[in-house]
Amino acid sequence: TLAEERVLLERSKTMSVITDKVTIVGAGQVGMACAFAIVSQGFSHHLALVDMYEDKVKGEAWDLEHASAFMRGGLKIEASSSYDITHSSSVCVVTAGARQREGESRLDLLQRNVQIFKNVIPKLVEESPDTVLLIVSNPVDILTWVAWKISGLPKERVIGSGTNLDSSRLRTFMSQRLGVAAVNCHGYIIGEHGDSSVAVWSSMTACGVRLRDLNPKAGMEDDPENWEDLHQRVINGAYDVIKAKGYTSWAIGMSVSWIVRNLLRNERVTHVLSVHAQNLHGIKEDMYLALPAIAGPTGVQKIISLQLTPEEEAQLQKSASTLWEVAKELKM
Ligand code: NAD
Ligand code: LAC
Repeated sequence: TLAEERVLLERSKTMSVITDKVTIVGAGQVGMACAFAIVSQGFSHHLALVDMYEDKVKGEAWDLEHASAFMRGGLKIEASSSYDITHSSSVCVVTAGARQREGESRLDLLQRNVQIFKNVIPKLVEESPDTVLLIVSNPVDILTWVAWKISGLPKERVIGSGTNLDSSRLRTFMSQRLGVAAVNCHGYIIGEHGDSSVAVWSSMTACGVRLRDLNPKAGMEDDPENWEDLHQRVINGAYDVIKAKGYTSWAIGMSVSWIVRNLLRNERVTHVLSVHAQNLHGIKEDMYLALPAIAGPTGVQKIISLQLTPEEEAQLQKSASTLWEVAKELKM
């Protein structure tokens, strides 16, 4: 409710970030791309890296730490396979887990990664009971819900990277098609970070002009310009990259780093995050999926109320039930 949002906002205003300490669990391709993006942009000066392979994570930490001379404000990086180094982190990013092999969907990873979460999440919360958990491992929406259930934290403090990356992919393709910078192209992909995601064509704009004012059928089946092709390229984006190089890393690293920046600095920038979506847009299921939201040191402060068309709302509800059908079978 609006009253609850106000309380969270007021609380966050009085909360100065005592530390910019960020933990990243999983020092694989994604975890290290996140780490590099965070420290190279100066968003945090204190990282704790955890991985089940102690030698590997120490090597990654040393390698990054050797760049201290090129960073303002100093840099402290700790690395271990144990969780005591994560103590009092403001944000804990979870990237640990299996990734898709060529042809696998994100949902195929679920049961494997739930087992990992049962091990990782309680240890993070024990060391940092006031942290915000930012889940990145796939399937991210269901695993964010799993992390929320395991952690016992309030739902505002458990979020997922959602479709922030998919929305960036969309804006990249819009920019290439229209010949204007991606920062001037605005549009959201919402719902599942995966095959049932929803493109919100009704509110997309470029340089202040609504796409549907230029082309009323943009994104529809009978659109002569076939804008929906961009959404299909977003859905296939990860599959294409995985086929070509085996994993995705750089764009998710940048996406996560900007979410982390906002969680630490309370800048009130909107990101498309996995949030608890029950009772929003007619969603009945107890499920997380991606919606634009503002998050800061206390976690989610506001979920933006999008003006969706009935078709978009129906697609979003379908995305929620797709996730729920998988989640309800989970052995926790
Ligand atoms: P990776 O195999 O390179 O790295 C995974 C790391 O997790 C490894 O270093 C491994 O040792 C570690 N790990 C596994 N179990 C662990 C445990 N119990 N405790 C600590 N560490 C553990 O994989 P990746 O390419 O970095 O991908 C990681 C995850 O991120 C995958 O699930 C992938 O699908 C997901 N991903 C999500 C997005 C997104 O937009 N949400 C984007 C890209 C990748
Ligand atoms: C992505 C991962 C694989 O890059 O979810 O979209």
